Amino acid sequence: MDAAQTIAQPATTSAAASQPAAPRVVKRLDYRPPDWLVPTIHFDFALGIEATKVTSTLTVEKNADGSGSGTIRLDGDGLTLDSLMIDGQLHNDFRIEDGDLVIDLAGDRHELVIQTTVDPKANTQLSGLYATNGLLCTQCEAEGFRRITYFPDRPDVLSRYKVRMTGDKAAFPVLLSNGNPVAGGDGPDGTHWAEWDDPWLKPSYLFALVAGTLLEQKDSFTTCSGRVIKLAIWVRPGDETRTEHAMVSLKHSMKWDEDTYGREYDLDEFNIVAVSDFNAGAMENKGLNVFNTRYVLATSATATDDEFRDIESVIGHEYFHNWTGNRITCRDWFQLSLKEGLTVFRDQEFSMDMAGSPSGRAVKRVNDVMRLRASQFPEDAGPMAHPVRPDSYAAIDNFYTDTVYEKGAELVRMMQSLVGRAGFERGITLYFQRHDGQAVTCDDFAQAISDANPGSALAERLDAFKRWYAQSGTPRVKARGHFDAAARRYTLSLSQSCPATPGQATKQPFVIPVMTALFNVRGETLAAERLLVLDSAEQSFVFEDVDAGVGVDVGSALVPSLLRGFSAPVLLDDDLSDAQRLVLLAHDSDPFTRWEAGQKLALQRLLVAVRGEGDATLDAAYIDAMRSVLRHDTLAPAFKDLVLTLPSEGYIAEQLDVVDPQRIHTVREQFRTQMAQALQADWLWAWQQHQVNEGYDPGPAQAGRRALANRALGMLCLCAAASGDTVWPGRAYQRVKDASNMTDRRAALSALINSHAALAKPALAHMLALFQHDALVVDTWFSLQARATEPLGARQGEVFAQALSLLKHPLFSMKNPNRARSVISSLCHGNPAAFHRRDGAGYALWADLVTEIDKHNAKVAARLARAMDRWSVLAEPYRGRALAAIERVAAQPALSADVREVITRALEAA
Ligand code: TRP
Ligand code: ZN
Repeated sequence: MDAAQTIAQPATTSAAASQPAAPRVVKRLDYRPPDWLVPTIHFDFALGIEATKVTSTLTVEKNADGSGSGTIRLDGDGLTLDSLMIDGQLHNDFRIEDGDLVIDLAGDRHELVIQTTVDPKANTQLSGLYATNGLLCTQCEAEGFRRITYFPDRPDVLSRYKVRMTGDKAAFPVLLSNGNPVAGGDGPDGTHWAEWDDPWLKPSYLFALVAGTLLEQKDSFTTCSGRVIKLAIWVRPGDETRTEHAMVSLKHSMKWDEDTYGREYDLDEFNIVAVSDFNAGAMENKGLNVFNTRYVLATSATATDDEFRDIESVIGHEYFHNWTGNRITCRDWFQLSLKEGLTVFRDQEFSMDMAGSPSGRAVKRVNDVMRLRASQFPEDAGPMAHPVRPDSYAAIDNFYTDTVYEKGAELVRMMQSLVGRAGFERGITLYFQRHDGQAVTCDDFAQAISDANPGSALAERLDAFKRWYAQSGTPRVKARGHFDAAARRYTLSLSQSCPATPGQATKQPFVIPVMTALFNVRGETLAAERLLVLDSAEQSFVFEDVDAGVGVDVGSALVPSLLRGFSAPVLLDDDLSDAQRLVLLAHDSDPFTRWEAGQKLALQRLLVAVRGEGDATLDAAYIDAMRSVLRHDTLAPAFKDLVLTLPSEGYIAEQLDVVDPQRIHTVREQFRTQMAQALQADWLWAWQQHQVNEGYDPGPAQAGRRALANRALGMLCLCAAASGDTVWPGRAYQRVKDASNMTDRRAALSALINSHAALAKPALAHMLALFQHDALVVDTWFSLQARATEPLGARQGEVFAQALSLLKHPLFSMKNPNRARSVISSLCHGNPAAFHRRDGAGYALWADLVTEIDKHNAKVAARLARAMDRWSVLAEPYRGRALAAIERVAAQPALSADVREVITRALEAA
């Protein structure tokens, strides 16, 4: 039709030819309610891999809360309009501005029929409607819907959706969308059709459609009110034997949300589709979750214990979004943490409850804290630092960050600490009651928790607490204790500060819950756990009537156990002595602080050695303490494994003002070798004692034994590397060949790789021969090599060279995000010693790859771009070479808004 010709050209052609436009920045304070609402949308899709015709029928209504504008602006991204009808009439009077469809509309209510045609096969961004292995699939969060049709693509426009789709029956035997299936049948010429109806109002980002050849694994769940829900996991033929764990996890999630928060599922079916081309982990589309295969498919032969655990938590996460995200959604994308922080909190709690035992819970908590420190703390200290509720963005996809997710979850956890568990339950119940069916803000959430708990530690300082949403940066807490034996009084002085972050030179005090207990030097409790709330720059807390204990020399220090359970996302400077930390490591009743004591002992030693203030040898006190943990009668193996893990190179780097990554690597490797050798007999014992001979179960008990046994194997291979012994590498090689599960097989392979054994090569070849047709295992095969420990000395650089050659491997692909990340992110994000080379070759490779990937997938490229966040703290020659690489990317004329934003901010750190 003629209108199409008049409007099709401008957006794409002019943008490519002109100067890189300064990215348009969206600001939180510019929020205005929508001018027009869309109460209903009826879709009709004529499906095709290379051309899908989309007809969308909208009722639009002027919003009483809007500006009263007589113009409606419908977002569009890369669309061409085939035709537009308004109230039954063909309509040619419209403009395309910046890709958006703009129409002057008199009156308050109209029906719009909009036709567009999209090419799913050409959609390499994997956002909008795209093709993957012959399937059609959508990804709409955050702004993919506008790549399918013109629409007010913002989360505060809630609509009732009906979807009809028609397609070739052979090409698309399965036709899925949100809600409940209501009709279907055969059409002419080998086609068929289906209709889906979603009774719940939802924002456009939760829309989904999937069509193609899929097999379903079915089950059912009876809800607390007795409704029977049909559950299905849809996979490609061949994968149907691998869905059992995901299905069990889904049923556990449904039950848990009923038991814990009284949340019942609200449709007749719940569908999950697994696809292998996917930008992220999974997506919570209403009633039709779409998952990366990585978070669905698992058998003991192909997936590790960690992968089983991740599947449970991601299945839970997406399911829990049904209430926290879907029924109650975000007013605007600045409120993203409203759904993500809260849902991460919920999935963490779910995983802890599934882990069951106190040690299982503790292991989960420690893992979550390790993740926060490994990626959120650096983010909060770097050029991309932003508040949990950001103030501005150029590309919203850049703000699906650890700050919004993981720190956001810590904020919810702190609220729970401040009002207590029962109070939190009351608060979240009020939140569900108040806001069901609405698009709301982080303020609304905090207000509900507070309103349900009048007089609580939260309600008393709600405004100050909410600074956590507004201020970026990781606060530092300094703690100093003083014991007055005569007065039997212990005084704890706490102070806080927070470094400047981009756009925020100074900060106001945070409200910091510091869970605290007191022990004597024998590890006896002198003061039971107590919640201290630090809410000003400096405060003292007094413990009266402290009895040092019978026979304890009153002159000896007391031992405070601070920030128990990691009660706030802060960096703690507690100035404890080794002796005090050893007491906590041996006796603390809180597993987090117990683990932390061991980490601090290691960290101090690592930092002294890295700074060259002492030699890189581990002292007997430390080794003995580690031996006692390893040999302990009652500690869980999984917990021991965590205590015996040295702080990561990234975490060590974050403690330093000037970072020499090779120096950190050298010192940490020397320590690791010493721990291997000094505890050799103990590792042998651990290996022998923790073999699992029962049938495979991915649960925490068996997984913990495997984790410790496999750490022991790694250590014994490291000893062998030093002594030239061939027995342990031989054993590991045998394991690679005959292990009965992937956890053991992969661990044995990694023991060989990370001890630089000659047998690593044949073991890798063996692994690939066994699993070359299994995409997820091939990903693992790539990533094990790209994450391998760079050897010290003459062989240094081997891992980097190998990563380069993997990029040319016939099974490597730049277009499949999982495969691309298996080499590239593993190297650039996951392997500091291989990446940060003195010659800058890692940075040059990074610049080439960011530029290349950005041409087809901006979101994957922007993630990769973040690998250079911390360049400005690097020592020379790293720093200069890093800057040169970043400038080279910045000079590219055609960068996506996503990469441009990351690179621009990185350069601002100079
Ligand atoms: N909302 C999703 C989640 O956390 C994540 C998500 C956002 C996403 N954007 C995406 C997933 C793009 C895949 C692709 O659960
Ligand atoms: Zn989420």
